[in-house]
Amino acid sequence: MTTNASIERIRALAQEGEQEIIALRRHFHANAELSWEEVETSKRIAEELKKVGFENIRIGFGGTQCGVTAEISGAKGKCVALRADIDALPLSEENETEYRSKNKNVMHACGHDAHTASLLGAAKILAQIRKDLKGTVRLCFQPAEESGSQSGARVMLEEGALDGVDSIFGLHVFSNIPSGMVQYRSGPIMAAADGWELTITGKGGHGSAPEEAIDPTIAAFQMGNAFQSIISREVSPKDTAVLSVGGITTSSDVFNIIPERVTMKGTVRTFLPEVQDRVESAMERVTSSIAEACRCKAELKYMRFLPATVNTPELALLVQEIAEELFGAEHVEEAPLTMGSEDFSYYSYTGHIPAVFAFLGVGCPEKQGTTNPHHSPKFDLDEAQLYKASALYAAFAWKALENS
Ligand code: NI
Repeated sequence: MTTNASIERIRALAQEGEQEIIALRRHFHANAELSWEEVETSKRIAEELKKVGFENIRIGFGGTQCGVTAEISGAKGKCVALRADIDALPLSEENETEYRSKNKNVMHACGHDAHTASLLGAAKILAQIRKDLKGTVRLCFQPAEESGSQSGARVMLEEGALDGVDSIFGLHVFSNIPSGMVQYRSGPIMAAADGWELTITGKGGHGSAPEEAIDPTIAAFQMGNAFQSIISREVSPKDTAVLSVGGITTSSDVFNIIPERVTMKGTVRTFLPEVQDRVESAMERVTSSIAEACRCKAELKYMRFLPATVNTPELALLVQEIAEELFGAEHVEEAPLTMGSEDFSYYSYTGHIPAVFAFLGVGCPEKQGTTNPHHSPKFDLDEAQLYKASALYAAFAWKALENS
């Protein structure tokens, strides 16, 4: 078949499956499970995959029953992975929809239910075009995207879920992108997320006798200012970095006591490793020299939580191409840089797999709740877009194998 005919067929199959995809999304939404507790979700995913003829179904990663991988092969060839994250958040849902979460204090408030259902929709399409696949497609239903240090992506990589994969595609629905708009980007797309904790120790004393104390708050104030100078004076204006202080506490809470200690914590977001390195080393230099000037001691703990999500240029182009063929160029645009982060980043950063991550708009002002922010108890999404996610997944796999 020609490219156009195949893409056309994939879109038609996705549309045919639309009601089933929506029903699955509602099922996962109503039965939301937290990171590393997605046992029932994983069971259901595996059942659906078995139904449509997927093979090598593997359930359970990180010593749990969470996470699923499965494969389907056409001809002998390369292996393309498609990834959906499957976890929900510790939130109490405030929507009154018929599919609202039945699990107390657990809610799909980031749209991972949509990713899961859409990838299952893609599984059905791939099963139907199996003989046209010039290789293997491995689906990767990843647990625990939201769990920070216990990242499901990292565990799946460590446990070989992505061994032998030549490229990987993932997507995220976003309520702040207009419904139906597909966004792609070459190079960095989502930021690296770091955290830091700083302890400044001086010598406590009476608020009326500063000469007998060593006041760590003076050092803290200067450091807070100097941090912003790192961003404005040490990072190129062409690059992007954010350094935010999220909390300051002192060891005293009394009006006439100079505290012995000040602790601060915050986050750093960057896109390029060299900028990340530069901010970290500048923070070390600034904190230790200001501490010395103020006769205090400073201890900085800098933690790299998630690397930046960086798209392989050829794969980003591929996403643009298939999205334009599927939905028309007027529904495809370049994504802006996003300061949020994603553990999908591990696949390219740690796993060295050529990777691409794209966005799909699911915010429709006419549909109630669908433009509410992610991670809000009133988050919802425009389900009419979900078949498009399925089409994107399936078309990416088909086309990447076709080109290999
Ligand atoms: Ni998310």
